[in-house]
This record gives sequence, C-alpha cells and structure tokens, in this order.
Amino acid sequence: MPISIKSEKEIELMRESGRLLSIVHDELGKSIRPGISTKDIDRLGEEIIRGFGCIPSFLNYNGYPASICVSINDEVVHGIPNKKRILKEGDIVSLDAGLIYKGFHSDAARTHRVGTVSEEASQLINVTRECFFQGIQFAKAGYHLHDISAAIHAYAEKFGYGVVRDLVGHGIGTHLHEAPEVPNFRQKTKGVLLKPGMTLAIEPMIAAGTWKVKFLDDGWTAVTADHSLAAHYENTVLITEGDPEIFTLSHSDRESMQ
Ligand code: MF3
Ligand code: CO
Repeated sequence: MPISIKSEKEIELMRESGRLLSIVHDELGKSIRPGISTKDIDRLGEEIIRGFGCIPSFLNYNGYPASICVSINDEVVHGIPNKKRILKEGDIVSLDAGLIYKGFHSDAARTHRVGTVSEEASQLINVTRECFFQGIQFAKAGYHLHDISAAIHAYAEKFGYGVVRDLVGHGIGTHLHEAPEVPNFRQKTKGVLLKPGMTLAIEPMIAAGTWKVKFLDDGWTAVTADHSLAAHYENTVLITEGDPEIFTLSHSDRESMQ
C-alpha cells in the first residue's frame, strides 16, 4: 500500500477524530486508581467513544476482544481487560485507545501511575513520553522517516532502556494501520521522505530492561522477556512543512507541557 496523503478535508476529519480521542484519554486518566478493574476501564472507554457517536476501532480488530488495551507493569501493549484484574497502588498502567470518526481513525496511548509509584517507574514513564517528543522533532517535511526512529532510540538509550522492536508505529487514516511502519529503533536505511499530509501514529514502547518481548498465551499481551517495567506513549500526528500537528493532545496535555 502506498502512503496516503490526506487532503485538507480529510485532515479536518482526522483533527476532530484526534480531539475526541484526547478527551477519552483525559477521562480514562481520571478513572485510574487502586481498586478499579481493567474491565471497568475498558467499559468506560467504550461508553465515552460511543457517546461521541464514534466506533471503538480496536474492538474485534483481528479478533481483539475489547475497546481499550490495558497493560500493567511488565505488559508492554495489548493487555486484555478483565474484571478480575485490579489496579493496585504502585502499578503503572498503559492505556491504548483508538476510535473512528466519520471514517477516520485516531490512535493514542498513555501510561499512568496508580497512586504513588517508584522513582524508577516514574522516570520510565517520563522518558517514554520524552522519546515521542524527541522523535517528532524530525516529523516534518524534508526529513526521512527513520530520523524519527533514530531520535527515539538515541534518547531511550541514554537511560539504558530497551526499545521494543517487535511492535512499531504506523501510518493511519481510513485504516488503523496504514503504510509506512514507524519503528522506534535505529534503522540501516533512511526510510521514506516525509511529506505534508502524511499522518502517522508514533508510539515509543520502552522497557526498563531488555527490548525483547514475549507474547502471553492469550495471543495478544506482549510482556517484557525479563519482566522489567514497560511504558507506552502514542499520538496521531500530521506531517506539515513545519512542526507536526499532534491531533491527539488534549487541552490538559498541552497545558501540562508548558
Ligand atoms: N495502538 C495499537 C496499535 O497500533 C492498536 C491496538 S491493536 C488492537 O497496534 F488489535 F488491539 F486493536
Ligand atoms: Co498504534
């Protein structure tokens, strides 16, 4: 599949898709506390998405059985919500959500602290988010795709962290996963030339230990091979001639960055 270049009209729909998803994340973030089940988080997410008249894009995607991926501690991504899985003080929890608005997808992930967490966990969460912002310094017309990958990798490495390789970011638009793949680790090639109108889901997945992951018997959940903590941070972004536009940042995300 070639990389789609979105028209102004399509960009407007993706912008709205992303804005709505950012609200979903804000609301889910407020629900995070010891005692809540991962199923409760999924239910709340689905309810908010449907309340917007949108479709939860993950539900039934390749058979995935929920609307929100909820991944705790050593779980990197694609954890399956379960009413018996209860968040506890000191956990870190990654929420990955996607929705479809008028045919256009948005995709974003955040890692939250459950109550007070260790200094190690807190730094991992911060650095994973910073990896994204390091990467998007190269997410503009004239740079190549793998400049983003290299910047994410270089930043994570400074902290001795592992950059997950088995899962990558992706183009996004009328499909959740479009070309190109967006790796978070250094590549031997330059990757495609970035052009205005490309829309990408850039999503560093970073582990406190090894980059290696294994998959649980549920067929979905990716966990770190050494069971070290992992964090995930993702936004849907638009490539422009200048700074990228981040569709999935909420007002409070923007305020907390100042
Ligand atoms: N953000 C995830 C991704 O890009 C989406 C979850 S995939 C699903 O792969 F299958 F769980 F929906
Ligand atoms: Co994604």
